Amino acid sequence: MKKVLLLPILLVILLYTTAFSQLNLMPIPAHYQLENGKFRIDTTFEISIKGNPNDRIYSAATRMLRQLSRRTGIYFHQDYITKASNSNSTKLQVMCKEPGLLKLDENESYTLTISPRQITLEAENDLGALHGFQTLLQLVSTDSLGYYFPAIFIKDKPRFPWRGLLIDVSRHFEPVNVIKRNLDGMAALKMNVFHWHLTDDQGFRVQSKIFPKLTELGSDGKFYTQAQIKEIIKYASDRGIRVVPEFDIPGHSTSWLVAYPNLASAPGPYKVQRGFGVFDPTFDPTNEKTYKFFDKFFGEMAKLFPDEYVHIGGDENNGKQWRANPKIQEFMKKHNMSNVHELQTYFNKRILQILTKYHKKMIGWDEILQPNMPKSIVIQSWRGIASMVKAAKEGYKSILSSGYYLDQMQSAGKYYAVDPLPSNTPLTDTEKKDILGGEAAMWGEMVTPENIDSRIWPRTAAIAERLWSPQNVKDVNDMYRKLRVVNLYLDELGLTQIKNYGMMLRRMTNGQNIAPLKELVNLVEPVKGYERYNHGITYTSYYPYTHVVDAARPESIHARDFNIMVSDYIGGKKEDYKILKSKLEKWQKSSVELKPIIKHSPILWEADSLNTEYQLTTKAGLEALGNLHNNVEVDSNWINSEIITIEKWRKPFANVNLEIVDAVKELIEAEKIKKN
Ligand code: ACM
Repeated sequence: MKKVLLLPILLVILLYTTAFSQLNLMPIPAHYQLENGKFRIDTTFEISIKGNPNDRIYSAATRMLRQLSRRTGIYFHQDYITKASNSNSTKLQVMCKEPGLLKLDENESYTLTISPRQITLEAENDLGALHGFQTLLQLVSTDSLGYYFPAIFIKDKPRFPWRGLLIDVSRHFEPVNVIKRNLDGMAALKMNVFHWHLTDDQGFRVQSKIFPKLTELGSDGKFYTQAQIKEIIKYASDRGIRVVPEFDIPGHSTSWLVAYPNLASAPGPYKVQRGFGVFDPTFDPTNEKTYKFFDKFFGEMAKLFPDEYVHIGGDENNGKQWRANPKIQEFMKKHNMSNVHELQTYFNKRILQILTKYHKKMIGWDEILQPNMPKSIVIQSWRGIASMVKAAKEGYKSILSSGYYLDQMQSAGKYYAVDPLPSNTPLTDTEKKDILGGEAAMWGEMVTPENIDSRIWPRTAAIAERLWSPQNVKDVNDMYRKLRVVNLYLDELGLTQIKNYGMMLRRMTNGQNIAPLKELVNLVEPVKGYERYNHGITYTSYYPYTHVVDAARPESIHARDFNIMVSDYIGGKKEDYKILKSKLEKWQKSSVELKPIIKHSPILWEADSLNTEYQLTTKAGLEALGNLHNNVEVDSNWINSEIITIEKWRKPFANVNLEIVDAVKELIEAEKIKKN
């Protein structure tokens, strides 16, 4: 009798927990409780907004409604949402106490309660409500009766107040629409700081009306007008995102010095850099004209950019021009400076005075963390988490970017594991408060408007979750599960990481069938870190970036799925045999079909050896799988020769790696050996 009762209870619990774990919320809220029941979405769905929010909430609510409409195909009756949309009888009641301010540490919390008949969204201010809208959009579900929101109670707030994305628009210019669609992606993932790396050796990208020569000579005509800057700031603000501009000085400054060589530490003329790396041109910190220039420049920029923070870069000044200039050496001696770091600190302090005069706070890369810098500055840690810890120990606020460099092509799982405040942090509770969060960094050397989204998304969603969700949210497999859903959602929002993949492959195949090429490129990843620079090409900003490596996704989900399945199969999950076999057969077939396609596509010639590797590896995999399945015992010589062949062909070809090689080796090594 007891057993009979227990079974249905267990089933209910099982169903409940299954549904529970299948929420696609990214980032996972700080607290949630799934309830019984469903809120059905139909044409009567309507939103009212009460309280005293900032006006951004009306456009955001309308965008949410239309997004929901596009997603479900349901034609909602409600027109644009305005202050007058405040009826008591609507299905979604939003309540905000006060207008949200776009500044650090503003309250971003919200409470979302969905019951079968009613949804309420409560927040201190509109910024929290905007996050609630995003959560709601991620909760849209379907069943045999249509679209619904699951009944749920969510009480959410971010773990860190600074959840940023850096986009470098200097190495490659990214037009306004590229920035806007990425702001949409950020908002969807509850990120709140857009760090705009506007100047570097390769281009000066912001219009100055006081110093128009900066863009006339330093940008190749590729820059944002002040009107465009304002348009993007407004777009970001409408989505609850702060815009922090970076003007990288005193190094990384060639593009400024093209127009103003008299402010450099060595005589000009200067040319905009086309290559990448660390270059010598540096502002002269001993020249009073430098500070007069920056006073006017930052005065203008302080008006243009409303955020309280201005990023001054400060990274990778190699000090060569300073050491080689007798006048600068003389200055250092006179001021008892024993090294160039002290001179840079002098420069930073002078710049800080200027920023302070314009009511701005300073943020810079971790090189600016030098003795005697005032505690008001924020340190952005890129050379290792140690500099973040050091900053916090010394009483500075900091954000983490080390471990979040998207151009290093690491996996989402790897970024996900990087935590500004891991459980074993050596910081005290007081010091922890100075850790503001982190930023994903999209450096622009190897990205163009065409493939930048695929380098940012979906991996940045993993970083967004790390920075928003509680520290104990660590289920990597669940993160990957949600990443697939988020990836499609980002595509729906207008990002191009999926769309442009097909386009790039189509271009490479010259109008031939792309299916076989896609099978292969689905399984490769670009070489990691900065290894691409080591293969014989001196890259510049005008290299095409249309090759296999530029189309390949930073992380191959197809390979990851296969690799996991192989491990499971070897571990005893024999029912995966059929799927593994069909995958390997499909790949074998595509490697054969790809040969003539490569032959007729000169841009793909570099992938010929890659295709051979693909062919040999999948062939070996098929054989090994067949042997395992049929309990065939093999000669140990066979195993050795297969491994030798695979290893011989295992190389980065065309700057990508085939990511299924280890799994195939696992299959081979799992063979039963014949006893002689
Ligand atoms: C940097 O990557 N040089 C900040």
